[in-house]
Amino acid sequence: MVSYDRIVKLSLERGFYFPSSEIYSDSPAGFWEYGPNGNNIKNKFIELWRRELVRRDDMVEIDGSQIMSKNVFIASGHLDNFSDPLILCSKCKSVLRADKFILEKEGINVPERIPINEVDRILNQYNLKCPKCGSSFQKTERFNMMFKVGIGPNNDEAYLRPETCQAIFVDFPRIFKIMRGKLPFPIAQVGKSFRNEIAPRQSLLRLREFYQAEIEIFCNPNQLDAIPKFDEIQDTILTIDDGTIISKVTAKEALNRKIIPNKLIAYYLSILYEFYEKTGIDMNQTRFRKLSEQEKAFYATIAFDFELKTSVGWLELVACNYRSNYDLSQHSKISKEKMEIMDPVTNEKVLPHVFELSLGIDRSIYSILEHCFAEDHENNRVVLKLKPYLAPLLAAILPLVKKPELEEIAKNIYYDLKKDFDMYYDGSGSIGRRYRRLEEIGVPFAITVDHDTVKDSTVTIRYRDTMEQKRIQIKELKSFFEKTLKP
Ligand code: GLY
Repeated sequence: MVSYDRIVKLSLERGFYFPSSEIYSDSPAGFWEYGPNGNNIKNKFIELWRRELVRRDDMVEIDGSQIMSKNVFIASGHLDNFSDPLILCSKCKSVLRADKFILEKEGINVPERIPINEVDRILNQYNLKCPKCGSSFQKTERFNMMFKVGIGPNNDEAYLRPETCQAIFVDFPRIFKIMRGKLPFPIAQVGKSFRNEIAPRQSLLRLREFYQAEIEIFCNPNQLDAIPKFDEIQDTILTIDDGTIISKVTAKEALNRKIIPNKLIAYYLSILYEFYEKTGIDMNQTRFRKLSEQEKAFYATIAFDFELKTSVGWLELVACNYRSNYDLSQHSKISKEKMEIMDPVTNEKVLPHVFELSLGIDRSIYSILEHCFAEDHENNRVVLKLKPYLAPLLAAILPLVKKPELEEIAKNIYYDLKKDFDMYYDGSGSIGRRYRRLEEIGVPFAITVDHDTVKDSTVTIRYRDTMEQKRIQIKELKSFFEKTLKP
């Protein structure tokens, strides 16, 4: 398996992502930027998510504000509960996140919501000291991860959202009404969220500013098994770790054996799984892990994490939480607005429950890079085997040599195709070196214009993964590319 460091090296060298404000000494940790190649992959990943989840399931998508009022987060519970256990060295004042520190030192998985006296007990039991100066820690505290902002000249208190979905909850009655919704009613949103992590690290894996793609499925709690589209996915095979045993079962079996509690959850876990199958990650290295009481977020009653095995261990890519009516009833209580709706399917007045698929985009991008990275020792090359529809560029047009008659044809092909596809023109340097650069950033095809092109209007298509080359008529390129872009 390729190492985490190797992926970061590739990302820095090839502009997938790099640290923010990096020319300044006061650049804060936990902020990274996507360069041109990474940004293209991110956008294509989001487009695949839209295709395989939003459009597949007739969801609606919104784009809410990143800054929201204090009351939103009083209602959501984030101002009281959204915190991590923090330890402070009594001498050098180094600050650490207790659960991560204990995991690193002792391999013990400490749940996020562990009582702080329990953290102190573990620190004592294993005689854990400050890694910098060896002194003992002060008593564990809880650190709230919300970013406070001041609005306008009076600096009115507001907050950057720690999850995109609060706008979905606040807006739900309006959206349900204008879209003439019926339950289950999924609302999706892509955007940035912000968490003041105690110890951000590992580039895209723990950021303070990060992208989420969230789907909140509003449902009638009495109708969780009335999901006709369940039949579409009943044979999808999922790996589920329920805390005691790991089962590789169809969605139908998982339901019969009560590993998954209802058809609604089984359906959405399955379409999520089918979406990730198309991303190029190794699905044999994935699992849905049911979280224990102590591991669940404060708003969740049932929670499965969709996890992937990577070089840094199991990584949570999607939090799948059954949030009951927690959010809608809290917003109704604090705002005094009614959040119930009439469900036209059952003719009942209901305060819907919510099941969510909260997907971390940045972690998913890292995972795709890692799982698609291949070293071809025989040919002394690095190949990023990205799916064509996730590659930063679909193809490059390369005149074989620097001759005006080849360059003119190559440029015409480039100008024609770049209207429809992400193309690149590279007219100089040795052809071998040009291929290597493209392979490293995952460009699936290279189109070479050579002397035969002048005679018969054909070019060669070179396949990134096999290095195979085929001749094709220039006029057939467009339909060739269209076919390769179908997931
Ligand atoms: N909305 C759930 C989360 O951000 O984890």
